Amino acid sequence: MMADGILDTVRRDVAAFRARCGIAPALAVILVGDDPASHVYVSRKLKASKRVGIASIERHLPSETTQDALLAEIDALNIDPSVHGILVQLPLPRHIDAAVVLDRICPSKDVDGFHPVNVGRLSTGTQGLIPCTPLGCLLLLESVVQDFCGLKAVVIGKSNIVGKPVALLLLERECTVTVTHINTRDLPSIVSIADIVIVAAGSPGLVRGGWVKPGAIVIDIGINKVVDKDGRSMIVGDAVTSELEHAAAVTPVPGGVGPMTIACLLSNTLRAANMMTA
Ligand code: GUN
Repeated sequence: MMADGILDTVRRDVAAFRARCGIAPALAVILVGDDPASHVYVSRKLKASKRVGIASIERHLPSETTQDALLAEIDALNIDPSVHGILVQLPLPRHIDAAVVLDRICPSKDVDGFHPVNVGRLSTGTQGLIPCTPLGCLLLLESVVQDFCGLKAVVIGKSNIVGKPVALLLLERECTVTVTHINTRDLPSIVSIADIVIVAAGSPGLVRGGWVKPGAIVIDIGINKVVDKDGRSMIVGDAVTSELEHAAAVTPVPGGVGPMTIACLLSNTLRAANMMTA
């Protein structure tokens, strides 16, 4: 799997960082509240950190944590020179304004790439920390696409975490990018022109085989919990994989983009550590 290759490289480069600096790169992960999916994602991130030798600092705060208390936690991590990356797991409880929280993270430690400075750098095509899932999608695409120039890419979903940044990355590679969303009219006909379909809608079974042209590449970012006809719960993506045999490549769910997100988070953490100590 491609994510394993990235993790191997990160592990090797982490060892070189330790030899040079005498400390391990360190990632702080803040989780507020008890969202079960967030717990699963955070534990995967921490486990993968350990595997590659990145030190992790876990801050699990109760759901009633005030915004000011969370900001104070971020301030402390921002000024701690032994912390290289800071991640606040989303979603946050409703009484906390995520935009204010993300704005508080030092941009050079913002390994999720969600701070407005990094968003701005991405939109101007300059060097910043790039959001992990979009970066993972791009690396997967680069493994099967030689030349992006002029390809038609359709992105389904306009979130700040996936849709918008992945669209910017593809635009930077000279794709012709269409971003669609919940209010887009005639979605099937828009998707049918695409050489690359990126679906991050959180809607199981949204993209049907008939929407996708032969030879297109489908990157499925959906992670949906559904119950099958025998009452078993399972995880499925946003595309109906069984109908996509005519596609050139389709990422599986689970196991496709998810592991790449984690690999890119660790790669971003190492990058942040290297930038801080350069
Ligand atoms: N929630 C869903 N995806 C993400 C992500 O990539 N980063 C963080 N921090 N929270 C998320």
